[in-house]
Amino acid sequence: MFSKDDGTVKPKLRIAPDVWRNGEFVAWDDARVHVMSHVLHYGSSVFEGIRCYATARGAAVFRLREHMQRLLNSAKIYRMEHDWTLDQLCDAAVELVRRSEMEQCYIRPIIFRTLDEDRPAFGVNPFPNPLMCCIGAWDWGKYLGDAAIESGVDVCVSSWNRLTPNSMPAMAKAGANYMNSQLIKMEAIRNGFAEGIALDDRGFVSEGSGENLFFVQGERVLTPPLSSSILPGITRDCIIQICRELGIEVVETGLQRAALYVADELFFTGTAAEVTPIRSVDHIKIGTGGRGAVTARIQEAFFAITCGKRPAPGDWLTHVNPDQAASDMPRESSHVLPDEAAESVGAA
Ligand SMILES: Cc1ncc(COP(=O)(O)O)c(C=O)c1O
Repeated sequence: MFSKDDGTVKPKLRIAPDVWRNGEFVAWDDARVHVMSHVLHYGSSVFEGIRCYATARGAAVFRLREHMQRLLNSAKIYRMEHDWTLDQLCDAAVELVRRSEMEQCYIRPIIFRTLDEDRPAFGVNPFPNPLMCCIGAWDWGKYLGDAAIESGVDVCVSSWNRLTPNSMPAMAKAGANYMNSQLIKMEAIRNGFAEGIALDDRGFVSEGSGENLFFVQGERVLTPPLSSSILPGITRDCIIQICRELGIEVVETGLQRAALYVADELFFTGTAAEVTPIRSVDHIKIGTGGRGAVTARIQEAFFAITCGKRPAPGDWLTHVNPDQAASDMPRESSHVLPDEAAESVGAA
């Protein structure tokens, strides 16, 4: 444990001691790139965020294939030509978690443009710069804070718009998109909010800086469509499928900013944020100002699935040790970041 300047105490982060890099495992300390790498200057990366949950049968990666497929899709959009396959990336992620012995963690695969030190190229044209693919993992708690899952968060509508579809495609999970997310997030934090909601270039509700958004309106659940410049969220897809199972109608539709203020309930979804209720927008109370009943029902089903207690609508959990019996006790990992490094990673 260590203290921050503001007096709060944050736990150290546990991280996987290895990083998978271009087909082999290397030590955390050896997973480095040249400062003149293309990605540092021009933002040329695509990445994923995947959670691995603790279950009675040990660690299980949540919707692994869907995440890795989205990574490959993002790479394709950005004309990143490579030989990494879906199966190879899935196997690598599972092996990384297995080696780390962590019972739960957040997995970060990334493909990016580096520097060929024998034939350096420094222009915007990315083609001469070799690609690298890495996967790292660390234990990440609740993204918007421990209390947020129950009590909800206070958010604002950002003065920044989401990316326009024909400038930076929101469909690709590209590192550069997150400069827009950072503007949204920083503005929200500086103004005392936990998160910001961006509108699209037409003024329709899009998404949070790192989350999709759901409205509860009467008996129905509404969510912005892909045409509102959102990331096609995998948690969003989970919620749509869970609602179907619970008999709740879900409608994908364009939504005005004002619809946020009069919603019965609002919640964010995302791999990091999971299912987080929103209790106010721009200081306007949403519903009763706490977690709503429909949100609680959906959240409960979601968390029951992630920990393996409720059957998923599909093949959503990839067990890291498939032969592990249900009664086995979780094991603890020992690898811990030094204080300063832990703080900088945790601040993301
Ligand atoms: C901008 C943005 N929208 C939505 C999401 C939610 O996507 P997912 O549920 O696949 O994590 C994320 C998180 O990855 C995100 O960064």
